[in-house]
Amino acid sequence: MAEHKQILVIHGPNLNMLGTREPEVYGHTTLEEIDARLASLATELGYAVTSFQSNGEGELVTRIQQASADSSAILINPGAYTHTSVAIRDAILAAGLVTVEVHLSNIHKREEFRRRSLLSDVVAGQVMGFGAASYALGLRAIVGLLDPTSD
Ligand code: DQA
Repeated sequence: MAEHKQILVIHGPNLNMLGTREPEVYGHTTLEEIDARLASLATELGYAVTSFQSNGEGELVTRIQQASADSSAILINPGAYTHTSVAIRDAILAAGLVTVEVHLSNIHKREEFRRRSLLSDVVAGQVMGFGAASYALGLRAIVGLLDPTSD
């Protein structure tokens, strides 16, 4: 039986406002509820999650750097930094971990500036457009990548 592998969940700027932030776009589920659902799904699948949210690009980069020492994979919603951050892209490349990008909304159905992700070609895959469920789907995708015999 493998040890419970640690999956790092990273939430970028303004995601601490979920629940009240533009609910017509992002839904009514709070970040705490998303994290609790991920923790219980991870346990069910034999994994453990640690969640980290920051509004600051540098803090997100620093946490991704630490991940190579304490995590097996990263589930990340970089928020608005998706569209702008070369630093977060570089940190993900440097960490060298299985990484899945998630978004609550379908960024391709929105404003032009949201349609480009600077992460899209350095992550294993993207899950978007399913609201809070995007995170659970992304976690399942990570487990499938870490343990291809799990399904
Ligand atoms: C988001 C989409 C981004 O464009 C936006 O800046 C966010 C949330 C999403 O989850 O749909 O903050 O990443």
